[in-house]
Amino acid sequence: MHASVLAPSLLAGDHANLGTSAQLAADAGAPWLHLDLMDGHFVPNLTFGPEVLAALRRAGVKTFFDTHLMLAEPQRYVESFAKAGADLISIHIEPAYDHAATLARIRELGCQNGIVLNPGTPAESVRALLPHVDLVLVMTVQPGFGGQPFRRDMLGKIAQLAAWRQELDLKFRLEVDGGVDLTNGVECRAAGADTFVAGTSFFKASDKTAFAAAVANW
Ligand code: DX5
Ligand code: ZN
Repeated sequence: MHASVLAPSLLAGDHANLGTSAQLAADAGAPWLHLDLMDGHFVPNLTFGPEVLAALRRAGVKTFFDTHLMLAEPQRYVESFAKAGADLISIHIEPAYDHAATLARIRELGCQNGIVLNPGTPAESVRALLPHVDLVLVMTVQPGFGGQPFRRDMLGKIAQLAAWRQELDLKFRLEVDGGVDLTNGVECRAAGADTFVAGTSFFKASDKTAFAAAVANW
């Protein structure tokens, strides 16, 4: 089982001061930073692009960049995100494009890769890709917006993916994203998750160092 990793979502940070928010998360002890990229097509919202990642790197942010592409055509952008400083790039299974080729391309670009499932997408849809990924991200809200309630009905999907990981003797990380906090995160951990995106719960926490320490101890 992988050690627990906290990935605060910059979506819940201060968008007028993204560098400050990113550094705040790093200083609190969060090993990863989760970056949510939205295109207004795959999800009904817009965030930012690769230039923001590059600017964060130039500003001295050294955290592992966990880049979540909520894009209808992610294959067109993986190279830009890799060049901008992404460490891991995850892409959704739902849109129609060559998933296997895009996952392979992400590794060629020197990044780890991840495949993401929306709440309505069954675990079976990614089963064939499992030997070829570094991370599987189970959405615990419908993507597009921060601050939504955690979907407890996703715990079974997490457990299913964790069971396949063991059965197939694979090492991919299992990440959860959406409405995760210090209470339901423990349930995700028990189901087999090891990587925890936290937007609202992390940035609203008065003691962010204690938050990061709690996740590290799961
Ligand atoms: C939702 C994003 C999430 C979001 C999580 O589309 O993928 O990463 O920022 O935010 P919270 O933790 O507030 O649900
Ligand atoms: Zn996300």
